[in-house]
Amino acid sequence: MTTHNDDVDWDRWPVADYLAENYREVHPSDAAVIAHHSAFYRRFAPGAIARSVEFGAGPNLYPLMLASAASRRIDAVEAGASNVGYLTNQICHRPDASWLPFHALCRELNPDVRATLAGALAPVHVVHADVRTLRPGTYELASMHFVAEGATEDFGEFADFCRLFVRTVVPGGHLVAAFMENLPTYRIGPASRWPGCPVDPATVTEVFAPLTRDLDVTRIDVDPTLPDYGDSGMVLLTGVAEAV
Ligand SMILES: C[S@@+](CC[C@H](N)C(=O)[O-])C[C@H]1O[C@@H](n2cnc3c(N)ncnc32)[C@H](O)[C@@H]1O
Repeated sequence: MTTHNDDVDWDRWPVADYLAENYREVHPSDAAVIAHHSAFYRRFAPGAIARSVEFGAGPNLYPLMLASAASRRIDAVEAGASNVGYLTNQICHRPDASWLPFHALCRELNPDVRATLAGALAPVHVVHADVRTLRPGTYELASMHFVAEGATEDFGEFADFCRLFVRTVVPGGHLVAAFMENLPTYRIGPASRWPGCPVDPATVTEVFAPLTRDLDVTRIDVDPTLPDYGDSGMVLLTGVAEAV
């Protein structure tokens, strides 16, 4: 049976296991994504974007640090209670020291990232919500990491998430995203099972091309320092939303 977004209890996202497997150190794939995205964000003057969104933020802080170079306000929108609890704690109290090397790399590649980790996270507002409820045209910039293809097993629903992602920005709004390439349904930690929808540069391009201009889709190879989730690397995207 195909798993859809509503079939999953996102409140039970295993934050500690997910961080331990993916984000306790800067892996080569993180460095590649940060380099790709920093080139995108360097196009903007500091604070040029009034309001941006991190679509399905999870517990990953580096996309928020990257956006802080350009955005005066960042809404980190996330459905799952465990992720919201982690994000709120990191932003309102004290971020884990393991994020410091991510911050150092983000700032090295874009000096507009604020000098301290806490400063870089200061523009972030945690929003406990389903991304499907966001009002179209709310943001000037939208960022998404491993969400549309990690939220469902159904390609049609993957495409729906991508269309919603594009429509959260105004026409002419900026888009930056990363997808796991060919991600099947996978496990985190000893037992939990999470949906995956295999996509690649061709399918990502097929979905985004009718919705965008200046679309740029690239890929990076699988990272042997990360757990083998069955993926074949990552797909990276930038573009500008068209009026549709
Ligand atoms: C594979 S994780 C990626 C997390 C994070 N963006 C990252 O870079 O590691 C997928 C995330 O999407 C969130 N998610 C899934 N469906 C969602 C929905 N309908 N609305 C908001 N968030 C959702 C999950 O709770 C989870 O945090």
